[in-house]
Amino acid sequence: MVKINENYLKLQNSYLFSTIAKKVADFQEKHPDKKVIKLGIGDVTLPIIPAVVKAMHQAVDEMGEKESFRGYGPEQGYDFLREKIVEWDYKKRGISIEKEEIFVSDGAKCDTGNFQELFDTNNTIAITDPVYPVYLDSNVMAGRTGKFHDKTQKFDKVVYMPVTEENGFIPELPKEKVDLIYLCLPNNPTGTVLSKGELKKWVDYAKENKALILFDAAYEAFIVEKDVPHSIYEIEGAKEVAIEFKSFSKTAGFTGIRCAYTVVPKEIQINGISLNQLWNRRQCTKFNGVPYVTQRGAEAVYTEEGQKQIGENIDYYRENARIIREGLEKAGYTVYGGINAPYIWLKVPTGLTSWEFFDKLLEEKNIVGTPGSGFGPSGEGYFRLTAFGSRESTIEAMERIQ
Ligand code: MLT
Repeated sequence: MVKINENYLKLQNSYLFSTIAKKVADFQEKHPDKKVIKLGIGDVTLPIIPAVVKAMHQAVDEMGEKESFRGYGPEQGYDFLREKIVEWDYKKRGISIEKEEIFVSDGAKCDTGNFQELFDTNNTIAITDPVYPVYLDSNVMAGRTGKFHDKTQKFDKVVYMPVTEENGFIPELPKEKVDLIYLCLPNNPTGTVLSKGELKKWVDYAKENKALILFDAAYEAFIVEKDVPHSIYEIEGAKEVAIEFKSFSKTAGFTGIRCAYTVVPKEIQINGISLNQLWNRRQCTKFNGVPYVTQRGAEAVYTEEGQKQIGENIDYYRENARIIREGLEKAGYTVYGGINAPYIWLKVPTGLTSWEFFDKLLEEKNIVGTPGSGFGPSGEGYFRLTAFGSRESTIEAMERIQ
């Protein structure tokens, strides 16, 4: 008799952003006349930049000609893109990464969700609390989390590292022995960052404890402060203990196009087994590569013109973040993040839970955000707004709140 993977039954009924989308759809059905402003899921609103549009058009034309048509591409990504990534994202920053260490994919969500497949189900994971739900859910599906306790809202085999106002949103090194450590910096959802010195402690910890850091740098392009690393490989020794996930979604507006990459350094050996080779094996079996047209679009980001254009878009979202931060502060809220990240993390008014605040904001102000508790128990009492909306709707949202 066929049996399901019972680990799936330990998941919350629905994925956080699907729950929110459903609540918003129900509200709109009841109130079709209301103009709802969506600052919930971190989805970009500016169109893709002209340099990318041009490159993708050209690539489509190539695909329509017998001489330049391409079928299956390399599972790891085309060399033309991998070489540009090496050059622009690493070499220009003084980091040495080889082309073969780059794996182009269709999203950091998929890669951060899939990477855990390479590890034993008895490995212990450490996550910040709150956290981007994919890291936890993918480990729940794999059976690496143990039992869920309703009272604490925690799994008993997971090490939760709280990031709250009390510790300045800086996670403490785990006291227990952990194997896989997920870090997202700049952080989703709190919008906070670690300095080089702080990140070095994690690299040292991983080395001493034979742990592996899964470093999600999807929001790296938003960093403005000097001492904040753009890549974990800026830290000495990180190539022995860290995988890095990067995405074109938030940097170049690719949420709908889908392109990202993961760096798996050749130095990482676990019991003499190369993780680079293992991930390559996994990708060749389960993934057929990112479309040629998409990769040509991503390549166009790595030109002077492309960098200038994405820079303008990122500045636009940064300005939205400033408008939200200052607007909320003016309205009396305590606000974090939004400086090196597109997320603003605010404290909900006393007496309300995160979900109650969500409902209140939706019903009374017709604004959608993300309840902090959706990211983990320590997110209770907080709320996330994204800077990825349009300028007009961002300003209007702040006027409504004020
Ligand atoms: C978020 O809102 O946290 C992100 O957009 C989700 C994602 O990138 O998958």
